Parts: sequence; C-alpha cells; structure tokens
Amino acid sequence: MRGKLQPIEIGIDGEGRIARIAKSIRGGVREDLGDRVLIPAATDLHVHLREPSTGPRVESFRSGTEAAALGGVTAVADMPNTEPPIDRPARVREKQDRARGELAVDLILYAAVGPQTAIESLGAVAGAFKLYLSPTTGIEQPPEEGSVPSLLARVAATGLSLTVHAEEPLAFRTVTKLDSPIAWDAHRPIEAEQRAIAGLLPGPPGLRLHIAHVSAPAVANSVRGSGHSFEVTPQHLLLAARRDDSARFKVNPPLRPPAIRAGLWDEFRAGRVPVLSSDHAPHPALVKDQEFARAPSGMPGVETTLPLLLEKVREGELGLDVLQSAACDRPARWLGLSHGRLAVGERANLLAVDFRRHRPIQAARLRTACGWSAFEGWEAVFPERHYRDGQLIVADGEFVGARNGVVVRPDYARA
Ligand code: NCD
Ligand code: ZN
Repeated sequence: MRGKLQPIEIGIDGEGRIARIAKSIRGGVREDLGDRVLIPAATDLHVHLREPSTGPRVESFRSGTEAAALGGVTAVADMPNTEPPIDRPARVREKQDRARGELAVDLILYAAVGPQTAIESLGAVAGAFKLYLSPTTGIEQPPEEGSVPSLLARVAATGLSLTVHAEEPLAFRTVTKLDSPIAWDAHRPIEAEQRAIAGLLPGPPGLRLHIAHVSAPAVANSVRGSGHSFEVTPQHLLLAARRDDSARFKVNPPLRPPAIRAGLWDEFRAGRVPVLSSDHAPHPALVKDQEFARAPSGMPGVETTLPLLLEKVREGELGLDVLQSAACDRPARWLGLSHGRLAVGERANLLAVDFRRHRPIQAARLRTACGWSAFEGWEAVFPERHYRDGQLIVADGEFVGARNGVVVRPDYARA
C-alpha cells in the first residue's frame, strides 16, 4: 500500500534492479534489516563539487560523492560554475575523464548556458543545462535580459532539462552596510526572484524548466502556477536571516525573515514543493570567515540534507511520504533516472534508516572536505546503510563501496 509503512521483502536481480516486492520471497541470498525502514535513496539536483578549479578548493569528486553516499544520496547533478566553466563539449568530456574511478555515486553533468554557448552540441554530451540570471560564484556576466527567450528555445530543442538560478539583478537594492544575513536579504529581496521568474514564464513549448533554490512561499506559488518544477533547500526551510550570524550564513538567494521561512516550511510539509536539493556549495572556512560583504555566498549540504529532514520525520513534523517524493522520486524523474521509488524495474538504490538513532551534526565528522556546517549541533538521522544496485556502499557511517559511480545522461523514456 502506498504511503504506509509495512513489513516487506525486496527481491533484487543480477543487474541490481528491484525484481519483486512481496511479504515473503523464497530463495536467494537474504539480508535481514530488522525493523529498520527501507526507503529509496535520494537524488540531489544541485551540488557544486568544484572540479575543475584553480583557486583554494576543498571539495573534489572523491570527497563530494562520498559525502553524498553517506548522506543517502545516490546521484548528484554537478553544477557548471567551475574554473573554467563547463560551457563547451570538450570541457564536459574533460570532466568525465576526471570523474573516472573517483565516483562513490552517479554523477550528472550540467552545462552552463551563456551568450556564447554552443547549446546544440553541448546538448549531445551534457546531462542538463544551468542558466544563471545573476552574478554568483564563478559567474560574473549573466546573459542580457533580451537574449533569454532565444536561449530558452534553443535549450528546449535539445530535450535536456534546464535549471535556472532566478534572481533579477535589476531588482537588487543598494544597502550601505552589507554586514549580516539581514542586510543580504534587504540587498537581494524576494522581488528579485519574482521578477526573474516573471521574465522566464511561461517559457517555450517543450522546455523542461526547473527553478533552483526558491526562498519564499510567494515565489513557490508563482512557479507552481506555471506547471514548472522547482526546488527548496534545507537552509531556506530551516534557517532564517539573523543579525548576528556570520558570512557562513550568506547564500544566494538570501536566508529570509522568520515568517517567510516558516511559510516555506509549511509549503514543504504540505507536499507542495516538488524537489528538495542541497545547493551544496563547499566554500573553504577561510574564505567564508572574512568580512561579510567580501565573503562568497553558499554553504555545504549534500551530506546533511536528507539526515536533517529525516530528523523532522522522526520528530513527527514531516511525513516520510512527502520527504521521499521531494528528495528521492521527483528529482530522479526530473533527470530521467530510474531509481527513487520502491517499485519493480527500478535500480535497487536503497537506504536502511533506523529512526531510533539520531545524533547531532558535527562538521568535523562529516566526509565533505569543507570542514564546517551551518547546521553544527542540529540533530539528524543518518541512513545506516546505503545500497547501490543492490550492493552495500555505506554501512554504519562508513563508505564501504567501490568507486564505480558513472556519469549518466537522462533516459526520459525509461524513467
Ligand atoms: C553557489 C556557489 O557557491 O557555487 N552559491 C550560492 O550562494 N548558492 C552558487 C549558486 O548556486 O548561486
Ligand atoms: Zn548552486
């Protein structure tokens, strides 16, 4: 029965796919998970693993995908705002080469859409597209407003999905002292998201459009009305802008005031948000711990996103079905991947969760090479086991798998 916990057995075939789901299955090698809860592993549509990079980099494919595996994430979509940016086919291929033998989980490679981008030829090699409408880490010059409709039409013709960072810089406000998350919110207001989205919608026919990191209920409503996809992050769901917080809490779009944050949480709980993503942006602590105005935006999260939200399930504040849909099922469908559901034919990418075991997040114990977390001390439920294609890759907080994750491209027909 959908949406209810029940005792089941899952039969996995030689290819690592779910072959049967029943009360009892005869034969085969059996593994007893006791009364742990079995859920599909998550897919994270929005991570920055920072390869390639020229500056002080902390994360890599190796550390970032291992962090994902430990956080219950079985596939990550890696953003293209690297140094140099992934904006031509040769750079996608170079990234594929770098990833070989490094990946603890599967990887989808985004390509960046810019005024000079060879969108058509990139569409043949990349896994998805990303468009930045405002400057952010690694992106200084977003495309001019007038050029956006034709860029969208060209992306639509490739058949790949497009994720948009939707903040309109013309709606940013001058704030004399950019010294706290509250000032950052005043500088990049919710209207900047609303204006960017108004300029994108409805979009050309056939465009698979997804709006990244929606920070407020009003923005969620605008996108939902258009029928397109969108995501929220744990930082916008759980953290509000506070006067005393440091630049570790500086993100784009900004953290919002408490009432907005609470409203976004209500939307999420009600199952009105299609996708949960981390926007894992692993800036070194050294560059975050400087003057607020100068520090880069973004915070790490791929390892803690699902555990933080599983804790909300444990506390009775969130339905497991809502979380599973937003973290596991919809992001996999969005990328054309066949996992994320407990269903016959899906890859057996699964998590065993013990809801009696929760512990505070300690950045020093995380596998992400970032070394800090905005959620230090928050209670979390880390999945105890993680299986990929039926093989155990995480057991009791340790990565025990092989580095055999692959760079995948969407198969919308199969998913
Ligand atoms: C991201 C980063 O650091 O790459 N930062 C952020 O604040 N979200 C870039 C981005 O997603 O805008
Ligand atoms: Zn991002």
